[in-house]
Amino acid sequence: MTVSLDDLPIRADLRGQKPYGAPQAPLPVALNVNENTHPVPEDVANDISDAIAQALRDVNRYPDREFTELRESFAQYLGHGVDSSQIWAGNGSNEVLQHVLQAFAGPGRTAFGFEPTYSMYRLLSRGVGAEWLAGTRGHDYRIDPEDAARQVADAHPDVVFLCAPNNPTGTPLSLDVVEAVYDATDGIVVVDEAYQEFAPKDSPSALTLLGGRPRLAVSRTMSKAFAFAGARVGYLAADPALIDALRLVRLPYHLSALTQAAATAALRHADTMLAMVDEIILQRDRMGATLEALGYQAHESWTNFILFGGVADPAATWQALYERGVLIRDIGIPGHLRATAGTEEETTAFLEALSEVGGR
Ligand SMILES: Cc1ncc(COP(=O)(O)O)c(C=O)c1O
Repeated sequence: MTVSLDDLPIRADLRGQKPYGAPQAPLPVALNVNENTHPVPEDVANDISDAIAQALRDVNRYPDREFTELRESFAQYLGHGVDSSQIWAGNGSNEVLQHVLQAFAGPGRTAFGFEPTYSMYRLLSRGVGAEWLAGTRGHDYRIDPEDAARQVADAHPDVVFLCAPNNPTGTPLSLDVVEAVYDATDGIVVVDEAYQEFAPKDSPSALTLLGGRPRLAVSRTMSKAFAFAGARVGYLAADPALIDALRLVRLPYHLSALTQAAATAALRHADTMLAMVDEIILQRDRMGATLEALGYQAHESWTNFILFGGVADPAATWQALYERGVLIRDIGIPGHLRATAGTEEETTAFLEALSEVGGR
């Protein structure tokens, strides 16, 4: 007898739901999940291998539950006077965000975000049994401080997500929105800066707002600029009291000794690991200009990807690119597709395939 999910005594609020499912296909040009498509430089990879080999010798023991050295490394990397008591980390920033929701949302509580935004906020909220409340954006997906504050005050959420810059649209977010939203709620405000390293160098981070705002958290990831998506390392900076709340919900020893060793070693080479960021920005801007020249509307992006509109049939264009070995993302915004900036060759391959396919 075959059993389906519906036959199991699953939680009522999970019945009929769909899991996160960006297609993973072994295509030559994969520009669909905003990875850094440049590999880790050889000398850094060697140093990381040595660190993992060393950690392996003690792998009979549980790892440092407080990942002390890694926390210090993140504090040093972030700067802005952040110290290690203000740092949290997890297996990807997804886990860090889940910890925030487990501690501050959960059944009977709510989480809020301005859609379209990172789809995992909704799924993570559902996973902890919290209700997701969808706010709206203005022209060109921008958020205006007064409107944002009004929406948040009306919704009364326990957790607010501000994606800065925003996925899947690439839109920048100014810090006055963070300040306005913080003042409009008694809940936790998470500024997700997964793509901050791709923003203009002089654009301020929400880290500058942490002082005196104990309900503010700024999350980051090593998956994008650091080219470390496969290692699964994300982190967050906040008041030490907020970090203590996250300790209540994490699994003991949630960061393996191998992960801690790899991430600590990678952070020792932050400059080299980040060397590709400028090249990716160059490809992103070339991609935007070429998309415009092809007649599409490329939305302003401070990330490593571009959302473009003017696609007559996104599903058909996505499929035609797939058949040419190019994987991008149909994120369900009518008339739009999203593509990650890859290496120069990958970006060219995508643009050439798109101009062949046409379909505007
Ligand atoms: C806005 C945003 N936040 C968080 C993440 C999660 O990244 P990770 O769990 O790999 O750190 C992503 C990944 O695409 C993202 O786009």
